[in-house]
Amino acid sequence: MNEPDIQAVNQDFVRYDQVTKSHTYRLAESETDEFDDEYEIRTFDFGRFLQGNKIDRASFADEFSAAVQEIGFSVLENHGVDTSLYDEIHDRTEELFTTTSMEDKMRFRAARYGSVSQGYFPIRETSDIHPDLVEGWVWCRRAFDLPQQRNAPFRPEAFWPDTRYEPVFRQLAQAHEALFKPITQAMFQGLGVDPHIYDEKLTETNFGLRLNYYPPLGRADDASGAGRLLGHEDVDLFTILPAARVSGLQVWNHMSRKWVRLDAPPGSLIINTGDYMQRITNDRLPSTSHRVGKPVDGSQVHTARISFPIAVYVWENEVLDVLPGLGEPKYEPIKAITFHTRSTSKFYGDDYAVEAPVEAGGVQQ
Ligand SMILES: [Fe+2]
Repeated sequence: MNEPDIQAVNQDFVRYDQVTKSHTYRLAESETDEFDDEYEIRTFDFGRFLQGNKIDRASFADEFSAAVQEIGFSVLENHGVDTSLYDEIHDRTEELFTTTSMEDKMRFRAARYGSVSQGYFPIRETSDIHPDLVEGWVWCRRAFDLPQQRNAPFRPEAFWPDTRYEPVFRQLAQAHEALFKPITQAMFQGLGVDPHIYDEKLTETNFGLRLNYYPPLGRADDASGAGRLLGHEDVDLFTILPAARVSGLQVWNHMSRKWVRLDAPPGSLIINTGDYMQRITNDRLPSTSHRVGKPVDGSQVHTARISFPIAVYVWENEVLDVLPGLGEPKYEPIKAITFHTRSTSKFYGDDYAVEAPVEAGGVQQ
């Protein structure tokens, strides 16, 4: 592993990208960054699509898809998930990170399984390329007592430091899994693509639930130049992120070439498209850069920040192909595992990429 560089910019790593990204930004917040206080990331009433008639659904799809097309982010309210769940998940996430011993955490240290690096990521080790002031934990579908591709008995102790956490976090995974298809359908419909073209791929699909625990920032951390989470684009179809209590999320606006601070309303869901979606939509829905910086409100600097995004994937043997009707394809079809691991070699090292085809029904360790 090379010594991480706090001055690094995204273009230092652009060789890993499997979709076109031409802009340049510094991975961590710096005093030279400019912020865009004018641009407003749009908030929508998702009930218009979930419960609306044909006309409501079509107008929602048009507006939502246009907003995502413009900046890769939007916010959904009235999404049907009881928002008290987010308060419970917030508290249980804090409990998990603050009461689990380091020895227990390290028993679950992250390793690649299939396409995705799963498990515990110690602070400063989210990636090899930049020191981030966050601890993370990722669980994919196999870590939950949910219908699985394979019929092996479910062993929660293989994934959880205390098996009582599994049903708690499963509630969140299931609540958001119910939104995978409607969100995709709305995006596709707004692009003029068959809204149901991914329905089968998204049935009992893989996902990555990531818990982030950003500890309170000490003076040395503050002075180190490290950010809370480096700038990146998500390697997924899209991400569902419940609004965090502590601010810090910043979104790259390619039009102004400045960062937009996104503070979504409590209980709302931030939706952002990732590399898979940019690839299959032929660059129509962008995989937008984002990061977590220090809160603007100084009183929040010494508060832990907690977030729990879920990344929506397709299974590793699926092929990512440009969707019909979106013009001459700019990209070749590619197997999801190749696409995913080539992209995330950026974070985990060149030997991370899986080039060999996966046998049908098999999942590579
Ligand atoms: Fe992200």
